Amino acid sequence: MTPSRGLTALHLRQGHPDFLDLPWHLPLEEWNQKVCSRLVEVPRGLSRHTVVFVSYGADIYALKELPVSVGQREYDVLRGLEDRRLPAVTAVGLTRVRATDRSGEEQAILITQYLPSSLPYRVLFMNRGLERYRERLLDAMASLLVRLHLGGFFWGDCSLSNVLFRRDAGELQAYAVDAETSELHTKLSDGQRELDLLIMEENVTGGLADLAAMVELPSTLDVYATAPSIRQRYERLWTETHKEISISPSESYRIHERIRALNELGFSVGEVDLVASGDGSQLRMRTIVTDREYHRHQLHNLTGVVAEERQAALLLNEIREMKATLTREVNRSVPLSVAAFRWLDERFRPTVSRLQKELGPAADEAEIYCQVLEHKWFLSERAKRDVGLEVAVKGYVALRKEQPALALLRSANAPLVTVEAEAEAEAEPAPAPHREGLR
Ligand SMILES: Nc1ncnc2c1ncn2[C@@H]1O[C@H](COP(=O)(O)OP(=O)(O)OP(=O)(O)O)[C@@H](O)[C@H]1O
Ligand SMILES: [Mg+2]
Repeated sequence: MTPSRGLTALHLRQGHPDFLDLPWHLPLEEWNQKVCSRLVEVPRGLSRHTVVFVSYGADIYALKELPVSVGQREYDVLRGLEDRRLPAVTAVGLTRVRATDRSGEEQAILITQYLPSSLPYRVLFMNRGLERYRERLLDAMASLLVRLHLGGFFWGDCSLSNVLFRRDAGELQAYAVDAETSELHTKLSDGQRELDLLIMEENVTGGLADLAAMVELPSTLDVYATAPSIRQRYERLWTETHKEISISPSESYRIHERIRALNELGFSVGEVDLVASGDGSQLRMRTIVTDREYHRHQLHNLTGVVAEERQAALLLNEIREMKATLTREVNRSVPLSVAAFRWLDERFRPTVSRLQKELGPAADEAEIYCQVLEHKWFLSERAKRDVGLEVAVKGYVALRKEQPALALLRSANAPLVTVEAEAEAEAEPAPAPHREGLR
């Protein structure tokens, strides 16, 4: 096939369109619906470079125009992040174009996969009713930086616009977008981490100050306190993951306790170092944390379901409950893998397929299932008994039909609805207290 005018090279990964039908002969800033019907609008952050989004069926891609060397570097770093399984957007390809208006100068266009169900911070910060996400957003950013630093990633440009957020069962998970200035190392020095934190603080404060000059920020959002608060959260988490504890040789249970505590925070422990003190009466224990996806890996290994970390923790609790029920039923211990299979077959799959039939395809199956679980807990708490999945599904469907915006966001610490459990969602659900939506 002859490449379009303007396109001089195209490097693409398998499993994606060839993108040859795009108007490569024009600089990205000149792309519009007339020249490119694939162009779509999505919520997005600020950027120095031109970034456009195109859709191929249900798949959306982000295209960013950059100088050639910078584009190649960003592509390589994003691939490196993927190899290290760190949370970032996925690089799909890199093109080189010689746009007709640029006196023959070559530019690169980096193609990344649009991160599904992701929201830029502005949407979370600026929409009324979403203030409760602020704390979670700060935690998610701190956690992202800890994870990236543990993985040897020096960002060099951590800012609010360079992070995307995805819902994660009432919390948020953050992903890095934009790695132009980044470097991958085997291990970061304290100096590199400190520099990255300073850059983050400067960017976050600057970004919020700019925003405050343009729009009225929510009263809960302090321009100057936000970045230090992210740093504090980062430092707490970093200290927790690097803490050394002293145990006596008879206290081996404390080794498991420490590992479990880290696992509960979502961290996977790769290695444990035990070093005896001079007289051998004490051991110093140091854990090497590899990632913050402990529950995610476990759920995936057991069921093949891909979920965010907190979603996975909730789903694993359900699987454990099922294990306990099965164990009681057969009066002998049932392996977790057997319970996981039953859960997948009897609960997760039928519920998700029913929700999809009623509400249309869900981009995020684990999240929609977790929303139903939350609804079930809420109704059960009200009824002071377990109302069961069936009632929760019906209630949730009725509510979503009434408030489609819930597809985008869910309540974080408030329940989904304030309906009386007695109504048990069979009847018309009462109006919800927080008709939050993207305005
Ligand atoms: N793969 C993607 N998925 C979802 N959103 C994306 C993706 N790539 C880019 N975006 C959105 O586009 C915005 C701009 O992208 P990006 O940060 O890469 O541009 P930039 O010009 O390099 O930014 P900066 O000014 O920080 O250097 C991001 O804030 C994000 O909201
Ligand atoms: Mg950016």
